[in-house]
Amino acid sequence: MKRLAVIGPGRVGRTLARLFHAAGVFEIGALVSRSTGTAGSAAAFIGAGQVNGDPAEADIILVSVPDPELNSAIARLALCDLKPDTMIAHTSGARGLEAFASLSGLPVRCVCAHPVKAFSDPERSVKTFAGTMVTLQGESSARDELAGAFKAIGGRTLGLPDDTDRTLYHAAIVFMANHLPTLVQAGLETFASVGINREDGLAIAGPILRDTLEAVLERGPAAALTGPVARGDAVTVARHLEQLNAADPDLAVLYAALARATADLSAEKGEASVEGLLAIRELTAPFTR
Ligand SMILES: NC(=O)c1ccc[n+]([C@@H]2O[C@H](COP(=O)([O-])OP(=O)(O)OC[C@H]3O[C@@H](n4cnc5c(N)ncnc54)[C@H](OP(=O)(O)O)[C@@H]3O)[C@@H](O)[C@H]2O)c1
Repeated sequence: MKRLAVIGPGRVGRTLARLFHAAGVFEIGALVSRSTGTAGSAAAFIGAGQVNGDPAEADIILVSVPDPELNSAIARLALCDLKPDTMIAHTSGARGLEAFASLSGLPVRCVCAHPVKAFSDPERSVKTFAGTMVTLQGESSARDELAGAFKAIGGRTLGLPDDTDRTLYHAAIVFMANHLPTLVQAGLETFASVGINREDGLAIAGPILRDTLEAVLERGPAAALTGPVARGDAVTVARHLEQLNAADPDLAVLYAALARATADLSAEKGEASVEGLLAIRELTAPFTR
């Protein structure tokens, strides 16, 4: 069995190591962090691993340090006596293959393995990992090997071209996964302005949110779109903007920016009148400048 070392066994590193260990995919070797406490708690969580051991003894080194530490953590590996063909993988969403620049010329295989999941709590992440998509970029044999390993712990993988712009790739995920809670919060604040509390607000929103998300994933954003913008109803949108602006001008600015983008999506859907959509673009403009 191949041996996996983890540099930065935090939320992502310890979750993956525990899953690989439990499924018998990899033997767990060195767990390296700046503080012994972190590596020690990771070893206890994983149920295996050598606290601040030597990563050079591993066949696969998973680098899951915070993004600002990535360059220096990888550069330190260049000083280790790595085995030929060692696989080095990082889990960053925002960084690509350029993060491995300090290893160029060494006989190692580099791969970006980004698990597209929110790893907030490792105990929970271990239980909910199945079905997670992991995007892979880099050396082809390393990609194939990791694809097999992630499949064995219930993950799915998708290869990305090596020249994919990682900043925009990451921004796309931020749009969809990180901004959704922000939209729900804006809705709850708007409910609060008419006296509907958070609990009732979430109860009202739950079914329509779930149904809309399912429809978007099944049929695509344009087909799933409903509501006043999709109908080209500029009168209702104008009223919303007026009242939101009175309640909280920041909510009106956010609504207007989204209504403009929704008008573009509605044009693609093709059910609203062109006049209605143009009127919506016109009346939202003052809020978005
Ligand atoms: N969290 C997510 O939802 C998520 C999802 C997908 C991808 N990612 C990516 O995965 C990577 C790790 O994220 P995370 O959320 O797991 O971070 P994290 O929970 O903060 O864990 C980072 C770990 O790295 C250690 N560390 C920091 N600097 C180090 C260094 N120079 N050398 C060795 N160890 C170091 C930290 O321990 P010490 O402080 O003791 O050193 C800690 O154990 C990041 O690239 C992140 O963008 C995160």
